[in-house]
Amino acid sequence: GLRTRETFSGRNAFIFAAIGSAVGLGNIWRFPYVAYENGGGAFIVPYLIALVTAGIPLLFLDYAIGHKFRGSPPMAFRRLHKKAEMFGWWQVLICFVIAVYYAVIIAWAACYTWFSVTKAWGDDPAGFLMGEFLQVSDEVNVQFSFVPGVLIPLILVWVAAIAILAFGVQKGIARSAMVFIPLLFVMFIILVVQSLFLPGALTGLEALFTPDWSRMADSGIWIAAYGQIFFSLSVAFGIMLTYSSYLKKKTDLTGSGFVVGFTNSGFEILAGIGVFAALGFIAVQNGQAVDDVAASGIGLAFIGFPAIISQAPAGALLGVLFFASLVFAGFTSMVSILEVVISSVKDKLGLSRVGATLGVGIPMAIISILLFPTTTGLNLLDVTDAFVNSFGIVAVALVVVIFLTAGFTALPKLRDHLNKTSSVKMGRTWMMFVGGITPIILGYILIDSLQTRIAEGYGDMPTWFVGVFGWGMAIALVVIAYLLSKLPWSSKSALHDPD
Ligand code: PHE
Ligand code: NA
Repeated sequence: GLRTRETFSGRNAFIFAAIGSAVGLGNIWRFPYVAYENGGGAFIVPYLIALVTAGIPLLFLDYAIGHKFRGSPPMAFRRLHKKAEMFGWWQVLICFVIAVYYAVIIAWAACYTWFSVTKAWGDDPAGFLMGEFLQVSDEVNVQFSFVPGVLIPLILVWVAAIAILAFGVQKGIARSAMVFIPLLFVMFIILVVQSLFLPGALTGLEALFTPDWSRMADSGIWIAAYGQIFFSLSVAFGIMLTYSSYLKKKTDLTGSGFVVGFTNSGFEILAGIGVFAALGFIAVQNGQAVDDVAASGIGLAFIGFPAIISQAPAGALLGVLFFASLVFAGFTSMVSILEVVISSVKDKLGLSRVGATLGVGIPMAIISILLFPTTTGLNLLDVTDAFVNSFGIVAVALVVVIFLTAGFTALPKLRDHLNKTSSVKMGRTWMMFVGGITPIILGYILIDSLQTRIAEGYGDMPTWFVGVFGWGMAIALVVIAYLLSKLPWSSKSALHDPD
C-alpha cells in the first residue's frame, strides 16, 4: 500500500536536525585551521562572502528541491526530470562512503573522551595514536588485522545510529538532535571559556585573527573559503534535500535556512576562538610559535589536544569537553548522512522505516567494521576522505547546478516554490548566485584539485592504492549511480510530481 511520507513535527524539530547535520567535525577541527592558514582575520571576508553568495543560496536550493518534490535525492531528482535520477544516487553513494569512515572518527573521539581522564598517551601523544591506539601498519594495503580498542567502540557507534534511525524522522532524528545539540552547545561554550582563561590564550587569538590583507588577492584563499562553506553547511550532497522532504507543506523554508546557516557559522567562529586559545597556551608553555603547534584535522584533535590536556590546569575537564563535543557533533552529522541512504532505498523499494533502516544500516556497519578498525584502516580513511570530497561532493554539486541552470526552467520553478512558502523572498540574485557564481567556483575548485592530484598523486601512498580507493572509488560511484537509476521503482506513484 501507499505510505504517507514521515514528517518533522514542526519548524524547530527540522531546524535542530539540520543544525545537527551542519555542525560537525568540519566546524571544530577544519574551520580553525583553514582560517588560520588563509589569512587569519582577513579570511573572514571571503568566508562571509562565500556564505552569502554560495552557502545559503545552495542551502535554499536543496530545501526547494526536497520540499517541492517531497522525496529522497533519487526520487526528488526523478520527479524533477526523467534523466536526473542518477544525480540523486550519486549523492547517496557519496553519503554511503562518508558514513563508513566518519563513524570511525566518532569511535576514536569516544575513546579519547575517556583517555582524557587517564592521560593514556603519557608524554607522547603522536606515538600513542599511531602505535598503541591505532597500531598503524607500515605497509599501505588492506589487511584484516583488527584493533580491538577501535573495533568495540565502532560497533557501539553503529548500533546507536541504527537504533536512532529505526525510530524514524521525528522520534529518532529530531528528538536526538534536540537533546544532543543543546548539550553540545553548552559543553562547547564551557570549553571556550575555560580555554580563554588559559595563560597564553591571547597569543593564540592574535595568531588566528591578525589579518593578512595582502592575501585577499590570491585565489587560493577564495577557494578555501568556498570549500569550507560547502563542506560545513552539508549542502549539495543530499542531506538538506532529504531533511526538507520531511517538512509539512506550509513551512518557512528560507527563514529556517538563515537560522541554520548563521548558527553553523557562529559555531565555527566560536570553535576557532576556543581551539586557538588552547593552541596559544601550549605554544607559550613550550616556548614555540603558534605556527609550530597548529595542525589540522586528525593531528589537531588526536595529537595536539592531548598535549594541551596533559599540561593545562583542569586538563581532564578540557579534554572531556573537547572530545565529547566531537562525539556529539559527529554523531548527529553521521545520522544525517546515513538517513540519505536509508531514505533513498526506502523510497525506491517501498520499504517500511524499520526494514529500510536495518536493510541499509547493517550492511554499511559491516563494511565499516571490516575495513576501518584495522592496522591498515588509517590510510584507507585518509585517501577515501580526500577523493570523495574533491571528486564526489564537488563534482556532483557542479553537475547538478549546471543541469538545473542549463534548461532555464528549473531554477525559476524552484524560486517560485521557495517564495510560495517563505518569509524572505528569492529573486534574480538568488538565481545568479546558484546558476552563475556557484558553477564557476566549483568548476575552478574541481580543475584545481584534478591538476594537483594528477601531478602529485596522494601523499606518499602507492599508485595502485590511490588508483583503487581514490580514483577507482570516485569513478565507481558514478557508474553505480547510473545503474541504480535504471532499476525500476516499487510503485508508479513514486514518479508523480506531488504538486
Ligand atoms: N557539515 C559537516 C561538518 O561541518 C560535514 C558533514 C556532514 C560531513 C555530514 C559528513 C556528514 O562537519
Ligand atoms: Na559545519
